[in-house]
Amino acid sequence: MKIMVVGGGGREHAIIKKLKENKDITKIYALPGNGGMKDDAECVAIGAKDIPAIVDFAKANGIDFAVVAPDDPLVLGCVDALEEIGVPCFGPKKDAAIIEGSKVFSKNLMKKYGIPTAAYEVFSDIDSALEYLKTAPIPTVIKADGLALGKGVIIAMTREEAVAAVRSMMEDKVFGESGSNVVIEEFLTGPEVSVLSFTDGKTVVPMISSMDHKRALDNDEGLNTGGMGTIAPNPYYTEDIAKVCMETIFLPTVDAMNKEGRTFKGCLYFGLMLTPNGPKVIEYNCRFGDPETQVVLPLLKTDLFTVMKAVREETLSEIKVEFKDMAACCVVMASKGYPGKYETGFEIKIANDCKAEVYVAGAKLDGDKVLTAGGRVLGVVAVADDLVSAVEKAYAEVPKVTFDNAYCRSDIGQKAINALK
Ligand code: AMP
Ligand code: GLY
Repeated sequence: MKIMVVGGGGREHAIIKKLKENKDITKIYALPGNGGMKDDAECVAIGAKDIPAIVDFAKANGIDFAVVAPDDPLVLGCVDALEEIGVPCFGPKKDAAIIEGSKVFSKNLMKKYGIPTAAYEVFSDIDSALEYLKTAPIPTVIKADGLALGKGVIIAMTREEAVAAVRSMMEDKVFGESGSNVVIEEFLTGPEVSVLSFTDGKTVVPMISSMDHKRALDNDEGLNTGGMGTIAPNPYYTEDIAKVCMETIFLPTVDAMNKEGRTFKGCLYFGLMLTPNGPKVIEYNCRFGDPETQVVLPLLKTDLFTVMKAVREETLSEIKVEFKDMAACCVVMASKGYPGKYETGFEIKIANDCKAEVYVAGAKLDGDKVLTAGGRVLGVVAVADDLVSAVEKAYAEVPKVTFDNAYCRSDIGQKAINALK
């Protein structure tokens, strides 16, 4: 069986390595993949947003199943285009991917169906937005409507910052058309939890919970990034909270999408905040999280392809999806300077005795050398019986992966370990 994975980061590397455990899969292509995946997939130089080229490639190469991982191609309708030529896919169609593609859509969905989330207002003209900010409770949160490479959310601690954020999005168009509409919402507090789930539109199977570390520097300081590390499971996410989330958030969301005629099939990601008033949705993603996937999939006991096929065929209720009773930690090694300016082109070396999984995100091939080619370069992932051991093990393996100008946070997992105490 020939599989195609659309995307090219650490998340895709983790998906590919997990798929490889299925012996019926004889070939995996990554579009475009990256140089660090060369031993696990054949990388094809087609961009993840180039849907006509992706469709042509699938047709020409007899692809049996496609996994579309990143938000952009999903929101652009990559799954619709592939299914149209008869290639079965894992991932939501365009009309369902809007749950991530438009914050205005997702906020209005939650309001309409009573799904707990921060109170909000939507603005399409700057004057009303600025007028509203004169009396809005501070701190407040300003969100660009569309996709903005994970940077479209500004937490304004003062009224001046809020005004500047609205001006940058609506006047200066720093996120292009994504900022034509903005959501201004209530500032929530509490621990954050990421819950990725498999859903076929009928059944929702939450995966093991995780915690992202979005800020660039230790102690959650510095700029927001795509994620500097993750742990799973998230100790704040107790069984009682999981039950509440299933009843008040997960099932209602899947039902709401069905009622809107936008059945969601694929990985639905719930970004949650456990507030003093109960769990609330911070954001939905229409895909696997990055770097959450790098800690969640290594703990999946069930064959990933079997689950993906069941999602596609709407038979998820017929299979048992199990996770290991263990913990995982991913430490992201980035190019020094990320998420600002950084240099690339340095050789990545992994020692032979490295016992961690290494999922590569930003690398390119130069002959048989693998060179850095991005801000987030790779994730070092360890699995162990408990969280403390997983964190220790990941950090013990980090020095065995080397490249010039490497930088990583030294406190991934500490907040979670403190919560356990
Ligand atoms: P996002 O880009 O949507 O993942 O948001 C980035 C981060 O902003 C989230 O992980 C939260 O930490 C924070 N955030 C988003 N919305 C809110 C909110 N309403 N209240 C407090 N923090 C928020
Ligand atoms: N790690 C957050 C995301 O994938 O959006």
